Amino acid sequence: MRKRKQAGRQSNARRQAVAVLISVLDQGRSLASAKTAVQTLPEQRERSFAMELANGVLRWRFKLDAVLAQLLNKPLRKKDHDLHYLLMIALYELMELATPDYAVVNEAVAETKQLGKPWAAGLVNGVLRAFIRDRETLLSVDEEVARFSHPQWLLDCLKQDWPDDWQRIVAANNQRPPMWLRVNSEKISRDAYAAMLEQQGIQYTLHPHAVSALLLASPMPVQDLPGFDNGLVSVQDAGAQLAAQLLSPHSGDRVLDLCAAPGGKTCHLLELEPAIEMVAVELEAERMHMLEQNLERLGLSARLITADASNAKSWWDGTAFDRILVDAPCSASGVIRRHPDIKSLRMLSDLDALAQIQQQILQQAWLMLKSGGELLYVTCSVLRQENEHQVEQLLLSNSDASECPINEDWGTPCQFGRQLLPGEEQADGFFYAKLAKAG
Ligand SMILES: C[S@@+](CC[C@H](N)C(=O)[O-])C[C@H]1O[C@@H](n2cnc3c(N)ncnc32)[C@H](O)[C@@H]1O
Repeated sequence: MRKRKQAGRQSNARRQAVAVLISVLDQGRSLASAKTAVQTLPEQRERSFAMELANGVLRWRFKLDAVLAQLLNKPLRKKDHDLHYLLMIALYELMELATPDYAVVNEAVAETKQLGKPWAAGLVNGVLRAFIRDRETLLSVDEEVARFSHPQWLLDCLKQDWPDDWQRIVAANNQRPPMWLRVNSEKISRDAYAAMLEQQGIQYTLHPHAVSALLLASPMPVQDLPGFDNGLVSVQDAGAQLAAQLLSPHSGDRVLDLCAAPGGKTCHLLELEPAIEMVAVELEAERMHMLEQNLERLGLSARLITADASNAKSWWDGTAFDRILVDAPCSASGVIRRHPDIKSLRMLSDLDALAQIQQQILQQAWLMLKSGGELLYVTCSVLRQENEHQVEQLLLSNSDASECPINEDWGTPCQFGRQLLPGEEQADGFFYAKLAKAG
């Protein structure tokens, strides 16, 4: 009876994972917005399993496509993409998860009925059994797109920008992301919070450079974290946490956070130095709402402006800022392990448009910076076009701008700024550059 109930739950999870994959791969929606469907599953275990399947398929999508192409006589029709994704899910389970082979096949075959396509039971059964029989040969594909499970354009960019590191970057992108916490230093020290985790038998390690960061040995639902609802802790990657530390505002500073939602860095800045006047700007109202909720949970406050950072005259009152954070919209090529949908949704043609908006936002930010003030430019990208080239352009076009070198023990110095590559100290990939305005 218990076994049957569990099988039912997993079957719901598989069906939701198929729906998520249709949303992302056929309709071009982001995984973050597509996954809201999964939230309707009643149990946390089902929700986690559905997301494990959707993330896993998106992570290995290019390899799974290559394997499936060898197993199907011809591609499935568009109206049968649900079956294509059902097969990908089953192949992912066979490749990466501990589900026994017979259970994967049985579940996938049963699922064809739930999808209203019982005619496909034989096809699904045949494809999966053929994979199990000849797994090693089918997986030893030559093409690098399949081998590294990345689109060719991205592999080409990574090879060009990081000729000695691209394979390491790609390997990190294909890992499951770890769960990092940011301890709210306004409420509790990292050591005191670590002691609370120990009391509950939750294992962790500390980041050597990000002063508020703590890595959980295994991810867990936030509701199970001690003090989460009371704002003792937030979920934020260690690489993202280095930004507030680098900007390091002083008491009384007027600080502008452009491109602020969902507010990880806004809140971290306020936790590190509560006596600042914080103004946070975000283009999208829905995302601004997330920032509002985060501030509320953490007991922090900021002036929130829903507006376009690339057009300051529409909202800026003319009073300059001591510190500005520009956490620009970007390709997100440094956080692929956390957002594997990027591999499928991002295109090479997006890069020029992103570079243009990044430069517009940077130039507007520069106008709003006080003489003697400092600006931190951050992206979660590893591509030089979005990073050091942006900084170079700003320096060339503003004679009052100079670079403050970031001399730290982590990351890689670039011509301008510093790059943390994905996977270093188990953090995401981020770029940081600090600029000072002549006083
Ligand atoms: C990298 S995310 C910011 C993450 C945020 N700083 C944090 O730490 O939680 C970039 C944000 O910029 C916003 N954005 C994009 N274009 C913008 C614009 N022209 N003006 C203001 N915000 C913009 C996006 O909606 C997105 O929320």
